[in-house]
Amino acid sequence: MSMRIPFLKKKQKNEKQDKIENVPKHVAIIMDGNGRWAEKKGLPRVAGHKEGVHVVNKIVRAASNANIEVLTLFAFSTENWKRPKSEVDFLMKLPKEFLHVYLPEIMENNVKINTIGDIEELPKHAKNAFEYAMEKTKNNDGMILNFALNYGGRFEILQAIKHLVNDMETSKISSEALDEKIFSRYLYTNDFRDPDLLIRTSGEKRLSNFLLWQCAYTELWFTDVLWPDFDEQVFHEALNEYRQRQRRYGGL
Ligand code: IPE
Ligand code: IPE
Ligand code: MG
Repeated sequence: MSMRIPFLKKKQKNEKQDKIENVPKHVAIIMDGNGRWAEKKGLPRVAGHKEGVHVVNKIVRAASNANIEVLTLFAFSTENWKRPKSEVDFLMKLPKEFLHVYLPEIMENNVKINTIGDIEELPKHAKNAFEYAMEKTKNNDGMILNFALNYGGRFEILQAIKHLVNDMETSKISSEALDEKIFSRYLYTNDFRDPDLLIRTSGEKRLSNFLLWQCAYTELWFTDVLWPDFDEQVFHEALNEYRQRQRRYGGL
């Protein structure tokens, strides 16, 4: 008698557990408060970053199950290099650890990994970890998991302008043709839709240079919960509140 070996089937697009109406298609999260979480427990700041990695996986799973199309996570800003070298070095080791543990689950959930930001400036081991994950997940057609690494909104806009000026000088585009849609294509986010919902944890109420162009009409949601304590329940609170919001884009 032959035995059938069960195999893990990739979750398909419309095969998700939760069916929630009016989900934001693109959710961006400023994952903040790791240091304060650790300090409150009398631990070194990096303990908060380590704990935060597991929360990333929980929220990726929850977002994918909720049929969110794009999840953009702010993991390291262009300003975060100002931190002590020991903390920066620790943060740079986390991508590899995260992907080592969670890439199989990401594959199983049909999630495609992408990055925005200047990843060329990351240490080689971090850059390689992401490149490997992007290659491995490139054919997945479920949720896009977008990591913002060495990302700064102003830097992104300046880079876009530099490329644009170059394309104008070489007559690839004329100033008459330039509009918001075309300009958006020069940004890291390229053809992603703008975030519908932006969540920031830890009680801070600012953008900290995140997606400045893209958040022009994004719904903002803040919570005092520190990132290592953030979970599916708080995430769903944000999604529920988003459902009540009325987006007007300046109209009536
Ligand atoms: C967010 O937590 C993680 C990164 C910015 C990399 P923080 O490290 O900013 O934590 P707090 O804000 O100091 O508590
Ligand atoms: C924003 O948090 C950057 C990330 C979450 C990666 P910060 O902790 O760096 O922001 P500020 O300094 O409080 O504005
Ligand atoms: Mg912070």
